[in-house]
Amino acid sequence: MFNKRIKIKELLAAEPKSQEATVMGWVRTFRNNQFIALNDGSTNENLQLVLELGRYDDDLLKRITTSASLKVTGIVVPSLGKGQKIELKASTIEILGDSDAEKYPLQPKKHSLEFLREIAHLRFRTNTFGAVFRVRHALAFAVHKFFNDKGFVYMHTPVITASDAEGAGEMFKVTTLPFENTPRNEDGIVNFKEDFFGRATNLTVSGQLEGELAATAFSDIYTFGPTFRAENSNTPRHLAEFWMIEPEMAFYDLEDNMNLAEEFIKYIVQYALENNKEDIEFLSQRLADEEKQLPQDKRSEWGLMEKLQFVLTNAFERITYTEAIEILLQSNHYKKKKFQYDVRWGIDMQSEHERYLVEKHFKKPVIVTGYPKDIKAFYMRQNDDGKTVAAMDILAPGIGEIVGGSQREERLDKLEQRMKEMNIPIKEMWWYLDTRRFGTVPHAGFGLGFERMVQFVTGMSNIRDVIAFPRTPKNAEF
Ligand code: 4AD
Ligand code: MG
Repeated sequence: MFNKRIKIKELLAAEPKSQEATVMGWVRTFRNNQFIALNDGSTNENLQLVLELGRYDDDLLKRITTSASLKVTGIVVPSLGKGQKIELKASTIEILGDSDAEKYPLQPKKHSLEFLREIAHLRFRTNTFGAVFRVRHALAFAVHKFFNDKGFVYMHTPVITASDAEGAGEMFKVTTLPFENTPRNEDGIVNFKEDFFGRATNLTVSGQLEGELAATAFSDIYTFGPTFRAENSNTPRHLAEFWMIEPEMAFYDLEDNMNLAEEFIKYIVQYALENNKEDIEFLSQRLADEEKQLPQDKRSEWGLMEKLQFVLTNAFERITYTEAIEILLQSNHYKKKKFQYDVRWGIDMQSEHERYLVEKHFKKPVIVTGYPKDIKAFYMRQNDDGKTVAAMDILAPGIGEIVGGSQREERLDKLEQRMKEMNIPIKEMWWYLDTRRFGTVPHAGFGLGFERMVQFVTGMSNIRDVIAFPRTPKNAEF
């Protein structure tokens, strides 16, 4: 039986009373044929194993190389070394798996994040990625806890759909039709009637529409699943496959929606800080070290820990889109022509604009409401001015847009009219419109990009470093 082992995290918290313990893990370092630093992923801290000189065969000692896997039984004693309370005096060492030191790609030295992306199958074995992925787990768990405690129902919305929820046309097609001799109609257009589902289908860009169907029965639901966007954006904040959390609430207006989103973000940050403090402290130090390489004006004003604490204790700023544009136009940054993209009412704000508002002007998360209807999706509730919709985006320091949401258009006539204007196929979406026909209610929801949230909490500057196996343009390795 393998399970009679103790995880290193638990062992390190124990009192050393000369008790026997068995640990298993991977060798990080082996010094002087005497000291092994063993890691099992439960924490970034290694357990020091002490080998009595002369007790083990040279053959065995040679096989204790970086990343070899071991089973070690020994006696837990107070440590004489610095920085650790306990160590394990090894009595038996079993090598479970060898690791050829000549060939192992992850040598125990500092590697760039770019290099580690090329060996993403092994990068979990570094301190940085150990910390990032334990924090990611904590955030995911906190998402479920938050909504479960509030009585929300977790919906699994489909991954394959026949609709484009965002109406942006950035979809990956799903088909089993052959590329050669593709069945076509007389007019040369591909005949999807012969396809697997008998119609054109794609990977979902959002679970929202199905979420709305469920919210108009359960009142409060949320989704948490993968979404796919074929946008050709090669940026540190875009993935072609990312995870999104989408709560949808009946009997909610835009203000209720904002309140929930703010409470939610604070809750999951707090949860990670409480449950993964050591990992976040490690990442905070990592970020500080990384930023030392940067010129003064490119460094963050605050450390990661300070930033997270600040977010927890301060209300998010709430402004309208019109106010946001006004602030940008009045800024010295604009006057000195430092923005690359144009600023005027009606633009879809670029990340440089969002980051100016958040990082330079307000220095805290900002919720922007009332966007021009022409830059937002068809389902958003139209405001009385005829120009704007009840949308809200939350912008976060260092990230830009982290949440996109809105109150939904619950009035059938207004919704149909907007769908017509935006060329959304009304007939195909009969099921969506049925919610407005039968017991329609004011309702609202939002989507939180999970990886952007993980970036925010871990301080990782590239989104490719907070998802295990990133999918980006021209990259689907592993
Ligand atoms: O603003 P978006 O497109 O909104 C929706 O999809 C709505 N259906 C949400 C809703 O109201 N239920 O996306 C929501 C969030 C963004 O704010 C961003 O954090 C993230 O999803 N996101 C991405 N994250 C990584 N890579 C991408 N390509 C992303 N596109 C959006
Ligand atoms: Mg958006």
